[in-house]
Amino acid sequence: MKIEGISRFSFPTNVVFGPGAIKELPGILGELGVEKPFIVTDPGFKGTDSFKSIVSVLEASGVSYSVYTDVNPNPHDTDVEKGAGEYRKDGCDGVVAVGGGSPMDAAKALAVLAGQGGVVADYDAQKSDVRPISGPVPPIVTVPTTSGTGSEVGKCSVITSTSQGRKIFMCSPHMMATYAVLDPQLVVTLPAHLTAFTGMDALTHNIESLTAPIFHPMCDAIAVKGIELAVEYLEEAVKNPSSIQARGYMMISAMMGAVAFQKDLGTAHSMSHALSAVFGLQHGLANAVCLPVVMNYNKEVSKKEYALVARAFGIDIFKMDELEAAEKAIAEVAALNKRIGIPSSLKEAGVTEDKLREVADKAYLDPCHMTNSRPCTKEDLYDLLVQAYKGEY
Ligand SMILES: [Fe+2]
Repeated sequence: MKIEGISRFSFPTNVVFGPGAIKELPGILGELGVEKPFIVTDPGFKGTDSFKSIVSVLEASGVSYSVYTDVNPNPHDTDVEKGAGEYRKDGCDGVVAVGGGSPMDAAKALAVLAGQGGVVADYDAQKSDVRPISGPVPPIVTVPTTSGTGSEVGKCSVITSTSQGRKIFMCSPHMMATYAVLDPQLVVTLPAHLTAFTGMDALTHNIESLTAPIFHPMCDAIAVKGIELAVEYLEEAVKNPSSIQARGYMMISAMMGAVAFQKDLGTAHSMSHALSAVFGLQHGLANAVCLPVVMNYNKEVSKKEYALVARAFGIDIFKMDELEAAEKAIAEVAALNKRIGIPSSLKEAGVTEDKLREVADKAYLDPCHMTNSRPCTKEDLYDLLVQAYKGEY
């Protein structure tokens, strides 16, 4: 990108990574002065061996804790507000977010309410009179159990407003975890289809942030490495779930994707958010199907970046012009989707054609496409949805 204007950026989260990293949790809490953590997770994860291994680490160190599991798949403002009340009632002094994107987002938002008071709607980033998140916010430690969202290192939460029927974005550097504990052993039981969906979410984050037209060369470099890792390890993580190498590097790829999208995302995410809202389509699955379609739409503008994607797939890009390399990259992303069991069209994923106009309307209201490399009108979004529906682009 051309150098013009002033930009600010930072990468402040401490990361503890590796098989068995969860054993470091009591020491981390001690370092942060947290005596009674409030563990936020989803009800499904609470019964798993992975969750038991996390709390047994705390119990072995004599750490008392509370557990909160009233978190919906797309967390509701009511989940967050109720959780903040329980945090205060239980006398907790720090938040540990355990799980995928939903409990992470709920936990980070809950920490704001626990520290500053108020309700989720007060902190709606799209409101002109948004209440600033200036602290104090209790210490947050994140423990991801999927590899996709990257919420463990992100500064935002996406919370569903139950009264307004839309997503509220809460964003602040104060919402970033002080520590992210990335333990690949906690991810080995993730089923193949969720590994594929969440992994493609990570790849989409890396690709969309690389092409977002915002000056952030550190994010760009991180995105390129995140793409390389997803390309190298996603298929193996799907097909050989106990591989600590594949699981570990997908955790890193997901984290890098979220660091990179400090820059922002693109049109695949606007389509995906709207598809999830209208059809309940899993976020990563929706991204996976939309990504090659959006890349095809962007290819003239983003051919330089897509050539790097092609290179990550092992294509010898020195023998071709950038547009040809971009087209190879699009074909490789579609081929990866196929190899890991992702449907080739929205139709195959269960979407019906009659609601695509509604999806386009919602996608247009979503802010992610504002930072797509090529601008989109509402009609463009509809056309892209039709292409994704048919799997033809
Ligand atoms: Fe995403």
